[in-house]
Amino acid sequence: MAPTWPAMEYAERSKPQGSASVRSHIAERANISMADITPNNVGQLHMLNAKLFPIVYVKELYKVQGEDVKPLCKLGLFNDIPVGDICCTLEDGPDETTWKIYIMTLGVLPSYRRLGIATALLNHVLENAPVGGMFAGRR
Ligand SMILES: CC(C)(COP(=O)(O)OP(=O)(O)OC[C@H]1O[C@@H](n2cnc3c(N)ncnc32)[C@H](O)[C@@H]1OP(=O)(O)O)[C@@H](O)C(=O)NCCC(=O)NCCS
Repeated sequence: MAPTWPAMEYAERSKPQGSASVRSHIAERANISMADITPNNVGQLHMLNAKLFPIVYVKELYKVQGEDVKPLCKLGLFNDIPVGDICCTLEDGPDETTWKIYIMTLGVLPSYRRLGIATALLNHVLENAPVGGMFAGRR
């Protein structure tokens, strides 16, 4: 005689409605964080930008920059996986109030878009822009 299996019981869980809420459902549960660009992970930045942008960036773009502009280049991590990046440079002006942040690249891999990763990367840059720079106190 064939064995009878007990009926499966599933825990109830919330169901997102529509594609926008699916993404916010994922975003709420994911760990979105940032990492410094270091000699150890600069290769990941190369690979991300090769996938994201049609032009090949010169190696100088990736050279690990000085401490003052370190907050301006970051990898965006989705559950610790690098899926996006922001790379900016600081453009000097005659004084600190005229410094500008130039965004060279900002990109997120297609499957990870609309989860707030670019927003997190941009906010990070604005929050960590050098003290006294044009962004200080503007948020
Ligand atoms: C532009 C880009 C970086 C956005 O990354 P992202 O992580 O998806 O952005 P976010 O999730 O933080 O989106 C923030 C808001 O931007 C707007 N937005 C983002 N992508 C959008 C799109 N394709 N169409 C319309 N609005 C968009 C939305 O208002 C979004 O908020 P919402 O999802 O709550 O509606 C990403 O689409 C990308 O990598 N594109 C290709 C590279 C590129 O063009 N980079 C910019 C030039 S360097």
